[in-house]
Amino acid sequence: AKFAIVDIETCIACGACGAAAPKIFSYDDEGLSYVLIDGNTGTKKISRLLVDDLYDAYEGCPTDSIKISDIPFNKEPTNV
Ligand code: F3S
Repeated sequence: AKFAIVDIETCIACGACGAAAPKIFSYDDEGLSYVLIDGNTGTKKISRLLVDDLYDAYEGCPTDSIKISDIPFNKEPTNV
């Protein structure tokens, strides 16, 4: 299983991740990206059907702000 988060300390709101993976990423009022399914907490598995899109976004992020792990991140939500 894959879990993902966006590091909003380094995200520059470029918008590439949502273009590559619109079912995974959305943006807050400032344009900062977050993972939709779990409020950017890294607690819910990314659907296997979306993992290719996840890696496209990961590779396309200009600031390496997308983090992927085999285990949950268990972060506080950032889209509130
Ligand atoms: Fe931010 Fe990277 Fe997406 S800079 S908007 S996480 S592509």
